[in-house]
Amino acid sequence: MKISFLGHATILVETNGHSILIDPFITGNEKATGKVDIETLKPNYILLTHAHQDHVLDVEAIATQSGATIVSNFEIAMYYQAKGFTVHPMNHGGSWNFDFGKVKYTQAIHTSSFPDGTYGGQPGGFIIYADSRTIYVAGDTALTLDMKLIPKWGKLDLAILPIGDNFTMGVADAVIASDYIKCNKVLGYHYDTFGYIEIDKAVAKAKFDSAGKTLHLLEIGGSMEV
Ligand code: NI
Ligand code: MN
Repeated sequence: MKISFLGHATILVETNGHSILIDPFITGNEKATGKVDIETLKPNYILLTHAHQDHVLDVEAIATQSGATIVSNFEIAMYYQAKGFTVHPMNHGGSWNFDFGKVKYTQAIHTSSFPDGTYGGQPGGFIIYADSRTIYVAGDTALTLDMKLIPKWGKLDLAILPIGDNFTMGVADAVIASDYIKCNKVLGYHYDTFGYIEIDKAVAKAKFDSAGKTLHLLEIGGSMEV
């Protein structure tokens, strides 16, 4: 399984023959300019954790050019279905077997409204089981005791956690989250995109190191194998 960081909270998961794009926010991210070209993105699926602009901005353009199925909570799925897109609605605690593997929609503590004010359901995250790997994409969330349930649903090979603070948990809480989910291999996201969420990357890595964990931070456009 190949995991690429396309800036902010945008992740591309490439499995054996399938590509899954999560929370596309590229054209609005100055830091991704010249590093990610959305016209090259042809995912089979687009997974959305919640409806905020910094997670859905490029959904319609990419779904149009790729024909991707949009997977999210019921309200977000219906929003895009009404616009003519192919969708698969889920909700918290539910799993579904797709052709690439299984997805479970997990709890997150955050909010979820579309830029136009439409209700975007309750925010979530995903556990993705594919290629004999299990990864957890937390979405925008606070540290929550619900994370203690995650290990009951599988042994994680990688956790993708927000670390930017202010709108989500910050680094210190992400270290605690990695205890709750029993995964010491973390890819940080949702940091540095704008002023409210700037972090000191060296300090963040040191905090994980001193807890016996590894924080991976990828350059925009960079990738890792899991
Ligand atoms: Ni958000
Ligand atoms: Mn966000």
